[in-house]
Amino acid sequence: MTERPDRNLAMDLVRVTEAAALAAAHYMGLGNKEAGDQAAVDAMRAVLHTVEMDGVIVIGEGEKDEAPMLYNGERVGGGHPPAVDVAVDPVEGTQLLAFGRPNAISVIAVAERWSMWQPGPSFYMNKIVVDRHARQSIDITLSPTENLQRIAGALGRRVNELTVFVLDKPRHEDLIAEIRRAGARISLHTDGDVMGALMAAIPGSGVDVLMGIGGTPEGVIAAAAVKALGGGMQCQLAPQSEAECQRLQAALGDEVYQVLTLDELIKADDAFFAATGITDGPLLEGVHYDRQGGVTTHSIVIRALSGSVRYIKGVHQLRREFPFGRVNVEEAVQLVAH
Ligand code: FBP
Repeated sequence: MTERPDRNLAMDLVRVTEAAALAAAHYMGLGNKEAGDQAAVDAMRAVLHTVEMDGVIVIGEGEKDEAPMLYNGERVGGGHPPAVDVAVDPVEGTQLLAFGRPNAISVIAVAERWSMWQPGPSFYMNKIVVDRHARQSIDITLSPTENLQRIAGALGRRVNELTVFVLDKPRHEDLIAEIRRAGARISLHTDGDVMGALMAAIPGSGVDVLMGIGGTPEGVIAAAAVKALGGGMQCQLAPQSEAECQRLQAALGDEVYQVLTLDELIKADDAFFAATGITDGPLLEGVHYDRQGGVTTHSIVIRALSGSVRYIKGVHQLRREFPFGRVNVEEAVQLVAH
């Protein structure tokens, strides 16, 4: 960086994810994923500009024409050093939020400028994630069975004592069948593989491994957390349509299927990650309203350089003039701004 941060930026970033989660929680279970996402984007963007950094969004809501806010290339932050890449997912698990299912979170990752791998035309990648004790054992070019055996060996456990987080998608039919044959337990989730990666990288979380194909932007965001946690992660682009395949061939040629290591996904040694629960999950509780007019958030804040992991419970007092109950975007921003 032009100037090394002497502060843990993630401690500021958690206010960004808190605001997004507070605004999005309003929409839990209402069946409208666009509205929940928009509220989170608005709140996140408003608070992001109060964070002292010179940020460029490299993973955002899409290209400018499609996403007028938090678009790729947008400058965010107060404009002063450190110069950083910023990856955001205001609602990771928009369907989880829309249907009130567990594990919808708001996330942000920040690292030195030019250090984050940029997805370009890639939508999907295959991922494998483990914690620091098994980081040397994974090889995404080997079969799932071989990986599970190697991971079990590294952890001093049997394969049938491992739990694997897998997205419950038709594309994973063979993967799920193979994991079952290998004897490991499976935790199936309709969405949310950033949370899956986070849990796989945190020893004792109840998930030992994340396997399978998910979003490429989500993979880069997860990589910041896994790197900060000292875990292991490898990825390989996995286009899911002919059009995606052709775009990747044109952009990357022979390199399309090269293995992406953690250090390629996030080149910087220092990276910052913050996530706040929107709906309840095993790692992070969601946004809760209490009877006294308070709103509670639960977040995780991680910094790579120090390896520090903080779980932050935020108790936000609704101001009297706010109507009791759910908070809107403006209120969410005010709650974390003071
Ligand atoms: P959204 O928040 O954009 O809906 O993404 C949720 C998610 O489940 C990610 O966690 C995952 O990486 C990706 O979608 C998988 O994509 P798809 O649902 O197309 O298989």
